[in-house]
Amino acid sequence: MKWMTFISMVWASVAQANTKTSFMPPAATEIAGQVDNLYAFLLWASLIACVILIGGMIFFAMKYRRKSANDKTAYITHNTFLEFLWSFIPLVIFLFVFGWGWYIYHQMRAMPKEALEVHVYGKQWAWEFVYKSGKASTNEFVVPVNTPVKLIMTSKDVLHSFYIPSMRIKQDVVPGKYSALWFESEKLGDFHVFCTEFCGAAHSLMLGRMKVVSQADYEAWLQENDEGLTLVQRGAKLHNDKGCVACHSVDGSVKVGPTWKGIWGATHQFVDGGSALVDEAYIRESILEPNKHIVKGYPAAMPSYQGQLTEEQLNAMIEYIKTLK
Ligand code: CUA
Repeated sequence: MKWMTFISMVWASVAQANTKTSFMPPAATEIAGQVDNLYAFLLWASLIACVILIGGMIFFAMKYRRKSANDKTAYITHNTFLEFLWSFIPLVIFLFVFGWGWYIYHQMRAMPKEALEVHVYGKQWAWEFVYKSGKASTNEFVVPVNTPVKLIMTSKDVLHSFYIPSMRIKQDVVPGKYSALWFESEKLGDFHVFCTEFCGAAHSLMLGRMKVVSQADYEAWLQENDEGLTLVQRGAKLHNDKGCVACHSVDGSVKVGPTWKGIWGATHQFVDGGSALVDEAYIRESILEPNKHIVKGYPAAMPSYQGQLTEEQLNAMIEYIKTLK
């Protein structure tokens, strides 16, 4: 009877640790809830084992300590029943945890046949998303709620790793091969996307955002385009959407590359001793052939945007930089 009370008490704590008092990011999928239950079980089982083990050790050390100079240790060889129990009980617990973990992992890795497929590219240092409609976005992507989404991922350069904490999913993104993830969000909202594989200077800035919206909002987003924005507004959007934001600030703060604030009309000094006036031609060259001239004090870390920006987009970015005084 006492054991039953104890077990139900533990289970209540597990359930509670999983809801309001949880220190985990919000769980947005059904599977994420399962992961949290397993994690809470492991945490509590470890805590209880720790108390029993360390508590038992202290208790026995006190109880059987040497009390006088001629206090002799009793002659004990072994206890088969005890030894069987302390092997068998952990075995059962470990097999139980293995089975539970396998059950969850199997659901995570079994890709649904009917899913919204999104192509994901990792590159230094941004995430690119391409939909079947041709819609493309960088660092921010949108998916409908209550819909299975499958991400088909590869890298354009080095190893990255795609991680959405709220979905409890993470997978390496490897150049030269595809990897995949799937999830079905039950919650609306914005969720963090991280790169969790060290991939170079701006790895920690390789941040993305996933917006989970209603089916109608998703359809509307797919139709959205840049029409109606001024050239400067389009430039500001490209700064974010093309991932420039990871390395180039617009407020003067120092990142991997030079800030864009106040560079228009300034003179850039190069590591090879040369210099150039920051004008239209210089900005265009810096975007398309970034390693031709390296600005003093900064690493030669920028990838080329050759073929990734239209002439209109290049002009929009130049117009945007002109306004950053
Ligand atoms: Cu990409 Cu770290």
